[in-house]
Amino acid sequence: MGLEIIILAAGKGTRMHSDLPKVLHKVAGKSMLAHVIDTAQKLSPDAIHVVIGHGAELVKETIQNDAITWCLQEEQLGTGHAVQQALPHIKNDQQNVLILYGDVPLLKIDTLQQLINELSAKELVLLSAMLDDPTGYGRIVREGTNDTYSQGEIQRSMNDVLNDSVKNVKAIVEQKDADSITLKIKEINSGILAAQAGHLKEWLGKISNDNAQQEYYLTDCIALAVKQKQIVEAIVCNDEKEILGVNNKMNLSQVERIIQQRIAEKLMTNGVTLIDSNRIDVRGSLITGKDVEIDINSIFIGDNEFGDGVSIGANAVIINSKIKAGTNILANCHIENANIGEKCEVGPYARIRPDTNLGNKVKVGNFVEIKKADVKAGSKINHLSYIGDSEVGENVNIGAGTITCNYDGANKHRTIIGDNVFVGSDTQFVAPVTIGDGATIGAGSTITKDTPEQKLTLARSKQFTIDNWQRPQKKPK
Ligand code: UD1
Ligand code: CA
Repeated sequence: MGLEIIILAAGKGTRMHSDLPKVLHKVAGKSMLAHVIDTAQKLSPDAIHVVIGHGAELVKETIQNDAITWCLQEEQLGTGHAVQQALPHIKNDQQNVLILYGDVPLLKIDTLQQLINELSAKELVLLSAMLDDPTGYGRIVREGTNDTYSQGEIQRSMNDVLNDSVKNVKAIVEQKDADSITLKIKEINSGILAAQAGHLKEWLGKISNDNAQQEYYLTDCIALAVKQKQIVEAIVCNDEKEILGVNNKMNLSQVERIIQQRIAEKLMTNGVTLIDSNRIDVRGSLITGKDVEIDINSIFIGDNEFGDGVSIGANAVIINSKIKAGTNILANCHIENANIGEKCEVGPYARIRPDTNLGNKVKVGNFVEIKKADVKAGSKINHLSYIGDSEVGENVNIGAGTITCNYDGANKHRTIIGDNVFVGSDTQFVAPVTIGDGATIGAGSTITKDTPEQKLTLARSKQFTIDNWQRPQKKPK
């Protein structure tokens, strides 16, 4: 039978204390719901139904995914009620249905696949976990737990749970409905479960909201199935991190750290050297060649690609950029939407802004800002300069404090600098202006007209000295 996936994402997330719907909060640069949808898509289901309610329009707009069927839950009456909103969209009663939560973003494909596989022999399969601190989660009550078992036995170890002798699942009791003995149970409900559509319809048709939160609990299906002698199986997830649900900002930050650790491990598996795997943040995709080395505290946003032997110094922020083989980005650089060639050296403290293309072996030094500019191979802009809306030829040397004055207050203009130009320090190019190949510009010049090739051009007032000049003296008091 085919598989369809329902993702619950209608809740407000009161405990986030935020105007943003909970499932739109980001981890690793992407909304939690987008992470869950990505995971769902990897299972190649016939359809994905997302139940939305709180902030429904914003959720739809943000996600923008044509593969999704959106189901509106006008009032958030509980997880059971939420699933009911999606069931009419399921092709037929024989379809296998996997229920995921928009606020549980760390689940792995293998774990979910295991759940689906189990369904062939069971009526209901759910995912549980053993937690040292089960506070807040629904507890898995197994046969005998609440009556004949002593407290010691309730706090079973992981091995006991995995052992065949362990009793069958009887019910799930929510934290708010649990008595003191049930609260001691450490096996918790991840919320994730799988069953056939027909069974879900039948069970959910029977549940009530007679509980502490006056909600229709999806978890009540378990007791109903057990009562009807249907087989319920709880698979214990061996990595309890996977099932972490985000209810507040503490959980959000915990989940962020776990995702970052997973990304760091993947990078290192691919051969990247991370000076400290706990101090890297990747918010998007990072493609790396061989022998890439990344120092501490850098943030990589969007889609970045680093060639072989690229090294990134401490505290870099790199956004949607390509950096080719052998280039060193020194500490404290900010680079956005740029293409950087081979064997370049950038920074420390350089800012490379959008639409910048650096050729091979270009050097950009400290306190240099470059925007919308092509700088060709071998050129150097080593200190304190602003190069914007410009073309800089090959092997150009731009002296300290050079500024392209690209903006006349209304429009932007271009500065074109030929090959082998030498620009003295503290030069201003008032654009539009073109500097011929091989030209030399004297230091301190304000260049307002095009300059010829191979000649020295300077525009500065002449220096003179006044003989017999006396410094003013202080008047005696
Ligand atoms: C739920 C489970 C609990 C489990 C925990 C795991 C129930 C009754 N309880 O509790 O056993 O341990 O998740 O994280 O299922 N939602 C809707 N519509 C609603 C209510 C919720 O779409 O009317 C969505 C939320 O957006 C969220 C998910 O369902 O994505 C879970 O809801 P939440 O209120 O966080 O449930 P918990 O109390 O955490
Ligand atoms: Ca939750």
